[in-house]
Amino acid sequence: MCPTEVGHGGVLDRWLEAMLATPGLTALRDPAEARRVLLDDALRAVPLVAAEKGPLVDVGSGGGTPGIPLAAALPDLEVTLLEAERRKCDFLETWTAELPNLRVVWGRAEEQPVEEYGAAVAKALAHPPTAAEWCLPLVREGGAAILWVGPSAEPARLAAVAERLDARVESADAGLVVLRKLGPTPPGFPRRPGMARKRPLA
Ligand SMILES: C[S@@+](CC[C@H](N)C(=O)[O-])C[C@H]1O[C@@H](n2cnc3c(N)ncnc32)[C@H](O)[C@@H]1O
Repeated sequence: MCPTEVGHGGVLDRWLEAMLATPGLTALRDPAEARRVLLDDALRAVPLVAAEKGPLVDVGSGGGTPGIPLAAALPDLEVTLLEAERRKCDFLETWTAELPNLRVVWGRAEEQPVEEYGAAVAKALAHPPTAAEWCLPLVREGGAAILWVGPSAEPARLAAVAERLDARVESADAGLVVLRKLGPTPPGFPRRPGMARKRPLA
């Protein structure tokens, strides 16, 4: 989907400008590059997210990508931005007035109630095995975790983590991996904060 097709009176242009103007939200400085990475790359997932049922959570939303572009593109979808840093949450909160389908939760993925969402998205959150372990418990049975992964992602490791959480790799295309949750969150998950990064499952 092209950003100009997304409505809300230019809110995405203003959000992008504010991201670049606010210290500590992105290292990107070139506006064209920022648009490509923060906005266009987020909107690539619109068809995948639109195919899922129930509310969406953007885990480790940072300055709001991919959650804010997805909320603007899919105004009937409830979108939660989950972010561990309070200062970033303050920035994210400023967009909820213009995007009524958006809410912000300050906290860590490992400390949230489980199985509250139809789908989770995560972009640049952590290494894919860690991101998968943080996202899958948040999703209901039958739902999906959708991860943006780089070329160095190791598909076998991701598949192994998915299996431990009763999920499987459903598709992997152009850097977007869909993990389908097949059953309830297995006992023992989420592990306590820090463990997924310190001792990855695979
Ligand atoms: C590198 S930033 C990426 C932000 C954004 N998704 C993007 O693509 O620009 C990762 C973000 O995840 C947040 N984060 C890290 N671990 C987290 C956790 N366990 N739960 C929630 N947020 C977390 C960090 O505070 C940070 O803002």
